[in-house]
This record gives sequence, C-alpha cells and structure tokens, in this order.
Amino acid sequence: MRKTIVKALCLLSLAVAGISCSQAVSNQDAALANIMNRKSVRSFTGQKLSDEQITTLLKAAMAAPTAMNYQPWCFVVINDESKIAAMFGDGRGADMYLKAGAVIVVCGETTMKRSRNGETSEMPNRFWFEDCSAATENLLLAAEAMGLGAVWTGCWPIENRCEKIASELGLPENVMPLAVVPVGYPAGDDQPKDKWKPEKVHYNQW
Ligand SMILES: Cc1cc2nc3c(=O)[nH]c(=O)nc-3n(C[C@H](O)[C@H](O)[C@H](O)COP(=O)(O)O)c2cc1C
Repeated sequence: MRKTIVKALCLLSLAVAGISCSQAVSNQDAALANIMNRKSVRSFTGQKLSDEQITTLLKAAMAAPTAMNYQPWCFVVINDESKIAAMFGDGRGADMYLKAGAVIVVCGETTMKRSRNGETSEMPNRFWFEDCSAATENLLLAAEAMGLGAVWTGCWPIENRCEKIASELGLPENVMPLAVVPVGYPAGDDQPKDKWKPEKVHYNQW
C-alpha cells in the first residue's frame, strides 16, 4: 500500500513538472512571438481605447528596467479628441494621431533627489532617457500583445519639438517628453520587418 502511494506521488509530481515545463515553453514561444511580431503601426480605425486598456499599457511600461530603480518615467495620456487635433492635427502624418485610440506621451524626470547628511538636493538623472526608452518599448510590446498597434514618434532630443510639447502639456521644468506614441486599433495590415543580421554580432572580439 505504502509503495503504491509513493509511486502515485512520484507520477503526480512528474505530471505536474511536465505540465509546468510545457507551460514554460509555450510562455517562452508567446513572449518571443510577440517581440518578433511588433511593428510600427501608423494607421488606425479611430476607435477609442478603454481606461482598462490604457492602464494595462501603462503598467507594462512601468515594468521596465530602470537605473537604481529610480523610475523616472511619467506619462501624459491624451484621449481628448480636440486636444489631439490641436497638438498634432496639422503636422506631417497628422492622421496617425487623429485616428489613434489614444496618444501617450512618455516623459522623463531629468533630475533626481539625493539625500545626504540630512539634506536633500536635486541632481541630474543621467539615465532618464534609457529608462524611459525601455518603458516605451514595453508599451509598444504590450500594444502588440493586446491586438493593438502603436508607433514611437520621436521627440527628445529635438529641441523645438520638446519645447512645443512641454508647453502644450504644461510639463514641469525638469520633465522632458521623450516619445509620442499613438496607439489604437490597426486599420491596415502592417507586417514586422526581419531585422536579423548575423554580421552585426561579434563574439569575444570585434
Ligand atoms: C527614437 C525613435 C524615433 C522614431 N520616430 C518616428 C517618427 O517620428 N515617425 C514615425 O513614423 N516613426 C518613428 N519611429 C519608428 C521607426 O521609423 C520604426 O521603428 C522603424 O522604421 C522600424 O520599423 P518597425 O518599428 O516596424 O520595426 C521612431 C522610432 C524610434 C526608436
């Protein structure tokens, strides 16, 4: 009887291990497929995103790696149609903003607080744009995973673009807009580009 119970427990643990192993493999496949399928999407149907969708996108963005875990990112979600039209309505590629489900401006705090000997001071955060770039990529990947499309449109370090967006959004002095990301339901059939170039890779020495 004891032997049978032990055998049954062994079989059970093997089965559980087998399930979690195949689960891990399919999670891996899904994650890699999502990365490989991400592409810039610039045409949208005009359907708005729900608050839940926007929160999911922002949670993914905030899951990014960040130097010293400082998390310098902040986001301005523009989902007011008239605001989108006022900000982006007459520029190049205006339609991708006007038809997006929302436009998310990824911003970064360029300074950080430092406490020393009981005194707090502000110092430059030299890693703000790396951190916020990682957050932007996470946002793009989350959009892909959610069946949405998105594109990173550049802002920083183009000074006049940054100044315009900062003033239109009323950003504090130390907050810089890094990227403007229209995100929404894709209207076209954009396909991912194959960028794999083995000649770009060097092992141990250039
Ligand atoms: C820093 C940065 C700035 C970009 N700026 C723009 C832009 O202003 N307008 C635009 O349409 N796409 C912009 N893109 C998207 C690129 O054009 C796009 O990622 C590239 O062509 C590769 O295509 P894929 O994203 O479909 O792989 C930008 C991407 C990055 C990373």
